[in-house]
Amino acid sequence: MPRRVYIETLGCQMNVLDSELLAAALQEAGFELAGARRAADVVLFNTCSVRQHAEDKVYSALGRLKHLKDQRPGTIIGVLGCMAQKDCERIFRRAPHVDLVVGPGQISRVPELIERAAGGGGPHVALSADRSSGSRAEVAASFARADFAAPPSRPAAPQAMVRAMFGCDNFCTYCVVPSVRGPEQCRPAREIVAEVRRLAAGGCLEVTLLGQAVNQYADTSEGTTLQLSDLLGRLNEISGLRRIRFVTNHPKSMSDDLLAAVRDLDKVCPYLHVPAQSGSDAVLARMKRGYTAGFYRDMLRRIAETVPGAAATSDFIVGFCGETEADFEQTVDLVRKGRFKNSFIFKYSPRPGTPAAERYADDVPEEVKRRRNNELLAVQNAVSLEANKRFVGRRVEVLVEGPSKTARKRGQTGPLRQLSGRTACDRIVVFDGPTALAGQLVEVMIERAEPVTLFGRLY
Ligand code: 5AD
Ligand code: SF4
Repeated sequence: MPRRVYIETLGCQMNVLDSELLAAALQEAGFELAGARRAADVVLFNTCSVRQHAEDKVYSALGRLKHLKDQRPGTIIGVLGCMAQKDCERIFRRAPHVDLVVGPGQISRVPELIERAAGGGGPHVALSADRSSGSRAEVAASFARADFAAPPSRPAAPQAMVRAMFGCDNFCTYCVVPSVRGPEQCRPAREIVAEVRRLAAGGCLEVTLLGQAVNQYADTSEGTTLQLSDLLGRLNEISGLRRIRFVTNHPKSMSDDLLAAVRDLDKVCPYLHVPAQSGSDAVLARMKRGYTAGFYRDMLRRIAETVPGAAATSDFIVGFCGETEADFEQTVDLVRKGRFKNSFIFKYSPRPGTPAAERYADDVPEEVKRRRNNELLAVQNAVSLEANKRFVGRRVEVLVEGPSKTARKRGQTGPLRQLSGRTACDRIVVFDGPTALAGQLVEVMIERAEPVTLFGRLY
């Protein structure tokens, strides 16, 4: 019987969470986790479809695994997540040696499907319904979320992600998420609070609530409508818990009561990820984002006024269909004036089946996309550096995550290493200290700043 499972995760935090929950469920079912593809009887890819590049990576990994499957025909290979939901047939055409294809709304069935695949037959497919195939309720019901009523118990950790919502109904024209993750569904507040209580009792200090547009959270299961601010209020009461984050926010739903909650609730971090995507009204309209650049700037002003010192961060897509040099300059201006802590910048990647791919030509040449990407990143880096420099000479509270990237790359050993952690406003802080500090809150005096990192010493 196959027992050792290797899970490779691509994409967003939602996928990282799905993989964590799956790993816990597999262990509960008696499987072991392997550290590498070659050491496993079952190799699973939890995939992402948000950009073409992420899909290409999976196809090339699947190509390489053909050899492993020829050598060890008993190996079970699975494609899970967004690509599975979107491209089941194409996966089997390009990689006939795949045994399992499981959509993001069916991941809880993976342990059972592995057993079935081991028994022969197959391939085994578990997908949720297509968005146009039935009523909203029927389609929503086909996305069974592993962590709703009874999440598998994850190993104790100082930080944890917790699902607040599944799916998305915003239908931004470039985005594949509403079709692969299905209709927006909110997890009842009661279940979220119970899970966070359990995590905190096990030593968890920081939770991050996840949803594609988490500030649109609305739970009606208790007779009234509970908003994200209400949920944050309940979570703030949980003893032992120290920090609460939530991602990702939609600019059009950044309500005053949510900002007041961030200001007033001591455990809620002053950190707001609110993707703007573009600074041009024409581009925003084609993206169907539901706001103008002026509205977005006004929202940034409300954040700064209500929660002084809050860190706002953004995502931008450059080279979207029809983006002119003048449109791009408006995005540059937004980054310059928006003072984001950081921004994630992506080159537009047309996703077949999305409204943008069907309606508009992908008419910005690749080299222009690349140049705009680099230019915007340089502007953002300058903004980030300036903001980070203000921390030099200040003492900050850091939740230590473990050895820094450099320490890991250099293979540093011994009890004293370069550690890395984050401030409440999500700034990365690097300093030397004993590894035993991992998972603890410490004070660090900042001595030097780079665009994405603060360097300091234990205080
Ligand atoms: N092309 C490029 N970037 C995209 N994103 C979403 N869809 C696409 C696409 N088709 C980006 C958005 C989103 C982030 C998670 O990924 O900026 O906020
Ligand atoms: Fe995609 Fe827009 Fe939903 Fe975000 S809000 S997941 S960009 S459709």
